[in-house]
Amino acid sequence: MNPLAVLLAVATTVAALATPPVGNAVSAGYLLLNPTTGPAKLKALAENAATIPVNRIYLSFVAPTMVYVPGSNTLQYSDIGYSSSGDYGFADVKKYVAQLQAGGVEVFLSMGGWNYNCYPYLYMKYSIAYFGKGPNYWKITQYGGGSAAGCNESNMWCYVCEPQSENTTLKDFIVFPEPDNASTWKAVQSTIAAGAKGEAVKWHPEIVGGAKFTDPVDKQTVTTVPGSNYFVTVNRDPYTDFVYLAKDLGLDGVDLDYEEMWHADTFRSGSGTGPFKLDQTVYKYTAIALDMVNAIKAIYPECKLSTAAGAAGAWSNNWWGGNLKGLWYYSNLWYPEVTKFMSAGANAGGINVMTYDLSNNNVYFECPDTTSNCELGGQVKFYMNTYATAGIPARVGYEIGQPAYPDPSNDPTHQIPLTQSALTEILNGVPNTGSVGGFFWELYKPKNSAPTGPSGQPNNIDATTVAQQMCAKVLPNAARCKGVIPPLDGSSPVTTASQLPTTSSAVPTTSSAVPTTSAVKSSTTSSKKTTTKTTTKATTAGPVTTGSGDLSGTACTVFGGTVCSNKVLYQCAYYSGNNLTWGKWTTC
Ligand SMILES: *[C@@H]1O[C@H](CO)[C@@H](O)[C@H](O)[C@H]1NC(C)=O
Ligand SMILES: *[C@@H]1O[C@H](CO)[C@@H](O)[C@H](O)[C@H]1NC(C)=O
Ligand SMILES: *[C@@H]1O[C@H](CO)[C@@H](O)[C@H](O)[C@H]1NC(C)=O
Ligand SMILES: *[C@@H]1O[C@H](CO)[C@@H](O)[C@H](O)[C@H]1NC(C)=O
Repeated sequence: MNPLAVLLAVATTVAALATPPVGNAVSAGYLLLNPTTGPAKLKALAENAATIPVNRIYLSFVAPTMVYVPGSNTLQYSDIGYSSSGDYGFADVKKYVAQLQAGGVEVFLSMGGWNYNCYPYLYMKYSIAYFGKGPNYWKITQYGGGSAAGCNESNMWCYVCEPQSENTTLKDFIVFPEPDNASTWKAVQSTIAAGAKGEAVKWHPEIVGGAKFTDPVDKQTVTTVPGSNYFVTVNRDPYTDFVYLAKDLGLDGVDLDYEEMWHADTFRSGSGTGPFKLDQTVYKYTAIALDMVNAIKAIYPECKLSTAAGAAGAWSNNWWGGNLKGLWYYSNLWYPEVTKFMSAGANAGGINVMTYDLSNNNVYFECPDTTSNCELGGQVKFYMNTYATAGIPARVGYEIGQPAYPDPSNDPTHQIPLTQSALTEILNGVPNTGSVGGFFWELYKPKNSAPTGPSGQPNNIDATTVAQQMCAKVLPNAARCKGVIPPLDGSSPVTTASQLPTTSSAVPTTSSAVPTTSAVKSSTTSSKKTTTKTTTKATTAGPVTTGSGDLSGTACTVFGGTVCSNKVLYQCAYYSGNNLTWGKWTTC
């Protein structure tokens, strides 16, 4: 080949890489629907579709136990929480979907989210209590007297899935079923078993809403499985019905938001404090995704499929429990065609990485890589690089406002909310922000109203600010990127942080030399465990001093400062209102 031809060939290749597949350049936001404000939010977005700074909206969340009979035109059995009578909002949602699409916005429907992924008893027992310490262990101490035995349904198994202030009951939670009476699921089971490259596959179809389930590890404790078994009584496969619903609503795609930390920790292999393997959860997640892939091919071939993925999901080294570290790495390694369907080609909705709800508290080894910075931008770059290294094209995620993790009532100074400098660092340092774009949680979540500035939390940025910059990076010439997320009734957005389940979950990690863990997070939780006693250092600010007596609630002056008193380490923060006080944090 002559030199000119070589140059031309190279130029062609570069051009091909620089132009992402049509529809893959996305500025996306999740929209949490609820009966009170959901309809107004959806209407406002639809009426302003041409000028909002996102070109994709994720309606969230439908239940993983949903039922939808094609042609029935009702959301009655989807648990989407839009309206509770008539057609449960079907016609309304369908009308707004068409209006959004006419304005150039794709609409996806998401299944899952934190509350539709949490099994309170098992998550408490094997993700948190098991390790005897960790960033969420204080809940077991405070409400359960320090042991899993003290956590029960009356104290919502010690409030691990949601904080006590949310007043949750078992009805608020649902887990992903294995609908093994369906021929579609049986087909998926054979494919997964045939491709299994880890331990032998063990299915658990008996974990179905309302059933009594005996703890498979202690073989004694019996709990009721969260969720409904309606899909069993009508003999349907919820993952297939999800695609039927998408077709009848005219949606552009469906989204799988799977975050079953309880499943990984209950069915892990390994012993003691690890490291463990989460092969069974790789099989379960991939089976659900494959069931959706097969349904799309059979029922609605134009439909795209995306997935939410954990920040540590593509990180392949040892797993110490508590997060879903490596889940997407192994799913891609063993079943590459499933990842490929979601990330390349006509059906690619993308792999959306929940790179938020991270912590910089290294007492729990939360910082993934001590050689680079532990602040939000540095951590996000680290996690996105693990996806790139694993060969999984992925889209970066942002969270607006107060993070759910670490718990703001317990460790507020190690939260790392999204600031302008972090956003700038991510947009400049994560290469795919210009090709596949980004997404955020959530369109109407307010910025954090806690005191900001040098003595408070970092000054985080609002949803419109984030959306405009993310949009401008991936769609540089689009006029919509200068638009705003429309306020409701001319007033400011109404969703409060505490009402929101989040989609995320983040991660903790491990220090390279020390066998420890950290876990990931999610709405309010995380867990982690460490086997090594580590000296606490205040990373945010303030000297470590000593004091005496119970200091809880007494005034302090330096945000992030710590003090050791009677073996309790107190941290100075805005626990409530605008006054800095000492709060119990950990032992010392
Ligand atoms: C639940 O646990 C709490 C705290 O450990 C205990 O006081 C309460 O009696 C338990 N309730 C039931 C119904 O077992
Ligand atoms: C939980 O219940 C308390 C007491 O009834 C109430 O003040 C609070 O607003 C409730 N929280 C939520 C999130 O509904
Ligand atoms: C399971 O599927 C078979 C065959 O479709 C059907 O006859 C049976 O009623 C189903 N069982 C339940 C519990 O739905
Ligand atoms: C904060 O402290 C001031 C002065 O001590 C007091 O008057 C005020 O009530 C406190 N505010 C809150 C929210 O606790």
